[in-house]
Amino acid sequence: MKKYNNVFVFDHPLIKHKVAILRDKATEMKKFRELIEEITTIMTYESMRDVELVPVQVETPLEVTTQYKVPEDSIAIVPILRAGLGMVNGVHTVFPTAKVGHIGMYRNEETLEPCEYYCKLPDGIENKTVFLVDPMLATGGSACDALTALKKRGCKKIKFMAIIAAPVGVEKVATTHPDVTIYISTLDRELNENGYILPGLGDAGDRLFGTK
Ligand code: PRP
Ligand code: URA
Repeated sequence: MKKYNNVFVFDHPLIKHKVAILRDKATEMKKFRELIEEITTIMTYESMRDVELVPVQVETPLEVTTQYKVPEDSIAIVPILRAGLGMVNGVHTVFPTAKVGHIGMYRNEETLEPCEYYCKLPDGIENKTVFLVDPMLATGGSACDALTALKKRGCKKIKFMAIIAAPVGVEKVATTHPDVTIYISTLDRELNENGYILPGLGDAGDRLFGTK
């Protein structure tokens, strides 16, 4: 895949270990859910390297000192329904007070075109750093449309996190939304004729929620 300045692919041994278990079709729902959360937490740490901190005065037992904190109420999480829901707790582990918006998208299984069916975002989202999350980035259609929906509602600083991605989807999101930073835990080989990522992990929503 071509190199894009706005795309970061993690190459962390702990993520590799967890993704290997995640892919295994024998991994049951509870374990699958836990792994999605754990991988998301690691990705959140890594993706916050450029976060803007504000100075605060802190009184230690010995003196007053200037320290630096993430500004209150500056982070929002927006999962793409359904599978993105599985990543919310992983971001909340790092930012427990982050407000959560929801965007509902489904892929038409024949055309693979995304369709938005729900959108509810926290007030003031336009001034927050928004983590748009979805474990799977396949054709890129759902992520691109969700990003357009967020921008239409005024969001300016958006980070998109996906756990498994196909090169074609990364290219589509990176070029359609060059102002969005994209974090991928694992870049896979390709899509099959049904739009599933190979080697992939199957249908993330079904594996998270026990549906078919
Ligand atoms: C999956 C996944 C993404 C989308 C990725 O959702 O969670 O949202 O497909 O595919 P794309 O990059 O080709 O758009 P799905 O439509 O299966 O809905 P679900 O989360 O409700 O299962
Ligand atoms: N959505 C999934 O859940 N899995 C894929 O492989 C592609 C899209």
